[in-house]
Amino acid sequence: MCGIVGYIGDKDINSVLMASLWRLEYRGYDSSGVASVMDGDLDVRKMEGRLMNLQEILADKPLSGNIGIGHTRWATHGEPSDQNAHPQVGCKNKIAVVHNGIVENYYSLKEGLLKRNHFFKSNTDTEVIAHLIEENYENDLKESVLKTVSQLKGSYAIAVISTEEPDKIVVYKYGSPLIVGIGKKENLIASDIPALLDHTKDIIIMNDGELGIISKNKVEFFDHEGKKIAKEKKKIKWDAESLEKGDFPHYMLKEIHEQSDVIKRNIKLKIKKNEFDFGENFNFSPKELANLSHIIIQACGTSWHAGYIGKYLFETFARIHTEIDISSEFRYRNPVMDGEPMVMAITQSGETADTLAGLREAKAKFLKILSLVNVHNSTIARESDSTIYLDAGPEIGVASTKAFTSQIFQLYLLSLYLAKLKWTLDDSEIRKKIENIKKLPKKIDKILAKENEIKEIAKKFKDAKDFMFIGRGINYPTALEGALKLKEISYIHATGYPAGEMKHGPIALISEGSPVVAIATKSSVYDKMLSNIEELKSRKAKVIVVGTEGDKIIKELGSDAIYIPECEENLSPILVSIPLQLFAYYIAVLNGRDVDRPRNLAKSVTVE
Ligand code: AGP
Repeated sequence: MCGIVGYIGDKDINSVLMASLWRLEYRGYDSSGVASVMDGDLDVRKMEGRLMNLQEILADKPLSGNIGIGHTRWATHGEPSDQNAHPQVGCKNKIAVVHNGIVENYYSLKEGLLKRNHFFKSNTDTEVIAHLIEENYENDLKESVLKTVSQLKGSYAIAVISTEEPDKIVVYKYGSPLIVGIGKKENLIASDIPALLDHTKDIIIMNDGELGIISKNKVEFFDHEGKKIAKEKKKIKWDAESLEKGDFPHYMLKEIHEQSDVIKRNIKLKIKKNEFDFGENFNFSPKELANLSHIIIQACGTSWHAGYIGKYLFETFARIHTEIDISSEFRYRNPVMDGEPMVMAITQSGETADTLAGLREAKAKFLKILSLVNVHNSTIARESDSTIYLDAGPEIGVASTKAFTSQIFQLYLLSLYLAKLKWTLDDSEIRKKIENIKKLPKKIDKILAKENEIKEIAKKFKDAKDFMFIGRGINYPTALEGALKLKEISYIHATGYPAGEMKHGPIALISEGSPVVAIATKSSVYDKMLSNIEELKSRKAKVIVVGTEGDKIIKELGSDAIYIPECEENLSPILVSIPLQLFAYYIAVLNGRDVDRPRNLAKSVTVE
């Protein structure tokens, strides 16, 4: 949610800032801007709309100088407009600020500043930061930033440049992510790793309450009282190539196609001679895990759907009572956490504010925290007691695809491990399941080869206004995910339901031609699903059935059938999700939607 970048060095400031902003566009894309300092002047360019607008202005009127900051915005305070785009500047045009987060006490701060004759040019909360730094400035930018942040409430990662001290970017982090990239005779700052990868793989991750002074040849860090602190450098594992779209028209399609490789990689990393290896960040002892009284999973959106599938897996295989909650609800409902529970946070980005708040809530109650995270060293990974990485590689498309199937994979494996520790499955059963897992990549490839078939079905349904997705058992959450995928990228209304629940109300929505996607793979609930599909057919719904290869019945029952290879019921959400992702993708593309950057959304939701 909003991406900030900064650069100091000898490269062309325009191209470095723009390239970094393109890498962070997934964090918000309703307006953008950049600023630099040159010959004692602040130079700012900012524009409403997509980054391309800013790029065009810069091509016409480039910035000059060796120091600059940039921002790509997801509006919180003030509608998307040129004025509300960042950087925001103070009255004297000496201070420029980019900000990711929310200043919660901005009304009262603004009131005070107005009384003291500051004039405002935007409706943003960020502008108060620029005015306060200007007001607090007494020949020391570091001190004025420290004084300013002590007046702020909320969450913020900020980068500040000033005409008074043109050789440094001052950054401060509290609640929103901020990373420093260490180069040779150049240094950078960014909200996320992809923005740095073209320049360096050496990074320093800032913690809350830390200030950084970024100069061309050195970086220094201080605590919130201004005392110097030492920070450790880390190496990024991802490479810049993995951030490219390659020959695919969209990141989402590329990421859908990567799923077989993601599962292959995870099999190699995490299953060693039929034993489980969750990596060096997974450090709960077998004894601790065997003694768990229950598991509470909290997550948002797609990650919540994965968690819901996890509930079925933990309960079925390891017989551990598992609760699943949406983080923004979990956080405020004061859940009962007696016994020896483990709280799980599931998140692709590792930065989702609601999930992080849920984690901190659990930590305050001294509970064990395990997180499933894709982005290495992200805040949630760092704040958890143990982490299992998704090893899905960078996911850029706003709609989560490969991270979702990898989350299910990790949950499946973890449930087998817990089953082993709790003796709820014997070794031969576990070995059989591991063999089933190893067959997944080929099966995924088989589904991906049906892309054109799925596109043809999407063509038939592209003008529909309302979709229903139904499933039962472990594929009920898969139905929820199918509906979310479709609505978030196509803007077509879609709802997921447990198939058995239709007759308790939602079936009233069905009339002639209503499109319903029904998951009816061979499983313990297969016959029940067939009955539910019959009920829909009698009301003249058009049912697209996702079923198991060789099943002739579903072909006769549905208007269209998408087949997946036969597989174990508890692994089927991984396979079923793939045609649902492709279906959503093609419906969106056929409707001319910007699938990688759907309206009103951002990949990393760092505000509550
Ligand atoms: C996924 O397609 C969505 N864009 C969204 O629901 C996402 O899953 C949610 O915001 C959680 O993100 P996280 O996994 O990074 O925590």
